[in-house]
Amino acid sequence: MACQCGSGGCDTDYGTPARVSEKLVTLEIDGIEVSVPQGTSLIRAAAEAGVQIPKLCATDSLEPFGSCRLCLVEIEGRRGYPASCTTLADQGMKVCTQSSKLADIRRGVMELYISDHPLDCLTCAANGNCELQDMAGAVGLREVRYGYDGENHLKDTKDESNPYFTYDPSKCIVCNRCVRACEETQGTFALTIDGRGFESRVSAGMKENFLDSECVSCGACVQACPTATLMEKSVIQFGQAEHSVTTTCAYCGVGCSFNAEMQGSRVVRMVPDKNGQANHGHSCVKGRFAWGYATHPDRITKPMIRDNISDPWKEVSWEEAIDYTARRFKEIQAKYGKDSIGGIVSSRCTNEEGYLVQKLVRAAFGNNNVDTCARVCHSPTGYGLKQTLGESAGTQTFDSVMQADVIVVIGANPTDGHPVFGSQMKRRLREGAKLVVVDPREIDLVRSPHIQADYHLKLRPGTNVAMANSLAYVIVTEGLTDDAFANERCDPAEYAAWKKFISQEHHSPEAMEAVTGVPAELVRGAARLYASAGNGAIYYGLGVTEHSQGSTMVMAIANLAMATGNVGREGVGVNPLRGQNNVQGSCDMGSFPHELPGYRHVSDNTARALFEESWGVKLENEPGLRIPNMFEAALDGSFKGLYCEGEDIVQSDPNTHHVTSALEAMECVVVQDLFLNETAKFAHVFFPGASFLEKDGTFTNAERRISPVRKVMPPLAGKADWEVTLMLSNALGYPMNYAHPSEIMDEIARLTPTFHGVSYEKIDQLGSIQWPCNEQAPEGTPTMHIGKFVRGKGKFMFTEYVPTDEKVTQKFPLILTTGRILSQYNVGAQTRRTENSTWHPEDILEIHPHDAEDRGISDGDWVGIQSRAGETVLHAKVSTRMQPGVVYTTFHHPFSGANVITTDNSDWATNCPEYKVTAVQVTKVSQPSEWQQRYRQFSAKQEELLKAREVAKAQ
Ligand code: SF4
Ligand code: SF4
Ligand code: SF4
Ligand code: FES
Repeated sequence: MACQCGSGGCDTDYGTPARVSEKLVTLEIDGIEVSVPQGTSLIRAAAEAGVQIPKLCATDSLEPFGSCRLCLVEIEGRRGYPASCTTLADQGMKVCTQSSKLADIRRGVMELYISDHPLDCLTCAANGNCELQDMAGAVGLREVRYGYDGENHLKDTKDESNPYFTYDPSKCIVCNRCVRACEETQGTFALTIDGRGFESRVSAGMKENFLDSECVSCGACVQACPTATLMEKSVIQFGQAEHSVTTTCAYCGVGCSFNAEMQGSRVVRMVPDKNGQANHGHSCVKGRFAWGYATHPDRITKPMIRDNISDPWKEVSWEEAIDYTARRFKEIQAKYGKDSIGGIVSSRCTNEEGYLVQKLVRAAFGNNNVDTCARVCHSPTGYGLKQTLGESAGTQTFDSVMQADVIVVIGANPTDGHPVFGSQMKRRLREGAKLVVVDPREIDLVRSPHIQADYHLKLRPGTNVAMANSLAYVIVTEGLTDDAFANERCDPAEYAAWKKFISQEHHSPEAMEAVTGVPAELVRGAARLYASAGNGAIYYGLGVTEHSQGSTMVMAIANLAMATGNVGREGVGVNPLRGQNNVQGSCDMGSFPHELPGYRHVSDNTARALFEESWGVKLENEPGLRIPNMFEAALDGSFKGLYCEGEDIVQSDPNTHHVTSALEAMECVVVQDLFLNETAKFAHVFFPGASFLEKDGTFTNAERRISPVRKVMPPLAGKADWEVTLMLSNALGYPMNYAHPSEIMDEIARLTPTFHGVSYEKIDQLGSIQWPCNEQAPEGTPTMHIGKFVRGKGKFMFTEYVPTDEKVTQKFPLILTTGRILSQYNVGAQTRRTENSTWHPEDILEIHPHDAEDRGISDGDWVGIQSRAGETVLHAKVSTRMQPGVVYTTFHHPFSGANVITTDNSDWATNCPEYKVTAVQVTKVSQPSEWQQRYRQFSAKQEELLKAREVAKAQ
């Protein structure tokens, strides 16, 4: 579904969704001839002819319902007054939308609605933005004959339970838009119309309040509601916006487009943009509602420095903070050598910021010690896809899923991690696509309203490659491959060799059953389903990458897609679901120590020469330190200074004790962030960062879509993040001169072949662009590898299963695996400072009833989780979502110490940590772990030191 009207830039409500048909029908509406695709409603055809028909229950994001009777029309040769939203346009039809009879009927309908409406328009939150009000005006309603004193709903109680929106039943016109939005757009089916006739009202679940119901607070119903019945509390508090700015959500890799509705520089609400090419007007609870962190009182808005982490912070000017940092970094390099400092940039940052940080490190620091948090999530994707297909990125658009016949989800939980795409996927599944879920846990997709996975391969954590090989074994040995595709698009000799490799008996589902724990018949069934699909699409997440064989598994997935011919067209492909908003972008921008922007190795003389010429410096030709190597080097005394922008390595990297020891061993740790995060507690310099609302730039989502981030308010600390990097570089003696991030993008485009055609002007013109965007593809590339793989011939890789070193033993008999939850985002620094914590105030440990019973554990008990790396304590939730032998937790709260127990094991190719497999023991305990107690003390001390800075400021 693209822009509803096809023009790509308007907000007209066309009444019903666009239809796609090769056949056009031509009709006349109020004497205007219009041609529309067959299947188009009359109300939409009219809107396309520029004729607006009054409506209440219809809107172009939802299928027509035909309940309000306001959109009636007359059709020549037909009796009665059909509803234009449910009547389809037909060849030669002559339609009249305005007549005195129609006007009478419409006024009558409106009278009925209005007689049961509070009519407190002047004080209503929707005043000025209410469709009921608009329709009363449109039909010329001047009186209400029934009066306002009869039976009505004016005293119905409001439901204020949801932290972000209210439900005021007295204003409800029972148009059913909210119910349909919840079903069709979101796919949650939380709402019903309860009662009949005059008594009917919207009900969340079994007459529960919204908070206690199945509602996931996506806000689709609020957006669909034509009155103030469902209304954002922020609008109730502040009133309607006076302008809006289109920007991109800064949370997950879906990259939803939003209109930030503003009063001056205050956000009133975020409304998903219906022209947004990644989200088509939908959003989740994070993007739509969880933006309050941007103005949270915890924001630090002045630069701070201190010589030791036991000292109070000293607030200083930007100039002083920058000079202090430059001096300390120069001193360190003079004493310990050029390679003793480095930088880490977060995938939360914009492309332009990421680009500048790696440029700072390579050109101003003079080494390649730059890394990004993609190291700890999707670095195996970059490696594995580059090896096999030739490009380190997903192959499709999100919309491609609407063409998929079989969807395979491996190690991903789209409804929590990528919720808007999860909703789109669910829509396709409700249309009949088949589903295979490969996951140790019963994620929501396995069973949710109107969706039931055809196969859930509930494998043991750490056995992905064994599973992928078994799937491939079945496909090859049962002759389900697409040999014509594979022989043409890949090297036939390599393909034959791979077939021989994978046909070995030890890969068979039967042989691997003891390893994966999944019955062979299920594996065979799933393999047959995927291979015989017209279009088979694989979606995967961190459950694939964060393993000791993460890169191997990515290559095994690519093998499956190539062998079955499921690459290079709509509806198929290999689709990594990127965790953070700009994981794709931070990798594209050269944030890894071995790659310059555009994935060119630092040892590539031609590429290096290009950058050397442009940047005017000599560049190192050896890869620099990866994040884990930086920690090692810090501990052995050779790495002493770190510039860390937007990333909370203490909370997000594995083996927390190791990370904090490394930071303590450094002499100058610089953190640039919004809050005093866990890493900042170990810092000597704090540069206050800017939220996504305070700066310009771009994010690149999981579909390679470069979308605009636009400043809607001035930076609270006076500087956007790119300006800070620029100042630091200048202070270090390497000049950077950019007046605006668009100039940084121009440089990226100049130096990066896949970005040659990208500019802010073009992004504004097209809304967003999927790279590659260059001379061959001036408007971008929605689907990759059409006709030919980027690397020429697709490369089949041998993917022998090698069990992880992390073994369960008598001492550590359970496997801990980790994941995310819908309402929280990553380390939680942002979402924990919003009302989203209502849903997830703490991380908990999910444990199977058998394992719980063996240990005498009940729901809500404190349990200690011990691994070879450390111990932490969480509350237990006894749940059959886990299989026996496997426990699960999230990592959104620092006190949980989820990474105190994860180990140093990592992917063989990229060092991506093996977060998904940790052998643990779980026991009932009565108090927090030693680490947690130390954490509390240390954090309290650091908060005090921060407060001492505030006291100093007040004096
Ligand atoms: S907020 Fe979303 S999930 Fe909740 S009732 Fe509305 S549409 Fe359904
Ligand atoms: S709550 Fe709003 S959208 Fe839902 S039925 Fe009532 S008026 Fe319509
Ligand atoms: S968090 Fe992701 S799915 Fe939710 S609104 Fe933001 S980009 Fe969209
Ligand atoms: S808009 Fe057509 S019946 Fe309500």
